[in-house]
Amino acid sequence: MSARPFIVAIDGPAGAGKSSASRALAARLAFALVDTGAIYRTVALAASRQGIGFDEDARLGPLLPTLSIRFAPPAEPGGAQQVFLGGEDVSAAIRTPPMSLGASAVSARPVVRAGLLGLQRRLAASPENRGAVLEGRDIGTVVFPDADLKVFLTATEDCRARRRFLELQGKGDPSTYEQVLEEQRRRDKNDSEREAAPLRPAADARIFDSSGVPLAEVVEQLAREVEATLRARGGGR
Ligand code: DC
Repeated sequence: MSARPFIVAIDGPAGAGKSSASRALAARLAFALVDTGAIYRTVALAASRQGIGFDEDARLGPLLPTLSIRFAPPAEPGGAQQVFLGGEDVSAAIRTPPMSLGASAVSARPVVRAGLLGLQRRLAASPENRGAVLEGRDIGTVVFPDADLKVFLTATEDCRARRRFLELQGKGDPSTYEQVLEEQRRRDKNDSEREAAPLRPAADARIFDSSGVPLAEVVEQLAREVEATLRARGGGR
């Protein structure tokens, strides 16, 4: 028996399908969803608006406690959660290619990672949650090293870039496939070579390669695993 809600950690590189899988899994299990990448993106947005460099630790540190970042249910059923910075809906503003790179840059700063730990844990472990699905890069290694289920979701470089390219195209973004691939390579390099909480699977993570695997199948397997563990524990806590 554990004192906190059931925690599912979904880590992996950009474009592996973490967001879609996490969203579908959380909805199916009626668990809270915490998109930690959105939190780093919001910090990057706030920093850029205030003219703070993504490596200016002395200004990033004091910025964090001034930010009120929260999630709200999707505007349309089945859509993505909304992200608010104070009273402003920043859901679209944080998902541009410059903010992807900005998030990758600020997330390499230990002062930012340390400053966001409490928020990530609070959002997930709120007592009204039966469970929570957290997606990110270091959930199973740093944020919840004792997560109940750890998954490292990955896919080939081409498959990930293609997914991201189609997603951006759908939003009317003019980036070419080559540009998306190039940005992905930069982010993969930043995220896995940084000293602070680099992207890597936890020793006890289940590794899933989602290349060519339908999302529904990934979600089905994960949901079955969570449900079996919950049943074995007798209900959820
Ligand atoms: O998942 P995403 O693409 O929205 O994440 C944006 C950036 O934030 C990503 O390049 C790395 C960083 N990130 C992180 O370092 N740790 C997390 N738990 C989540 C995201």
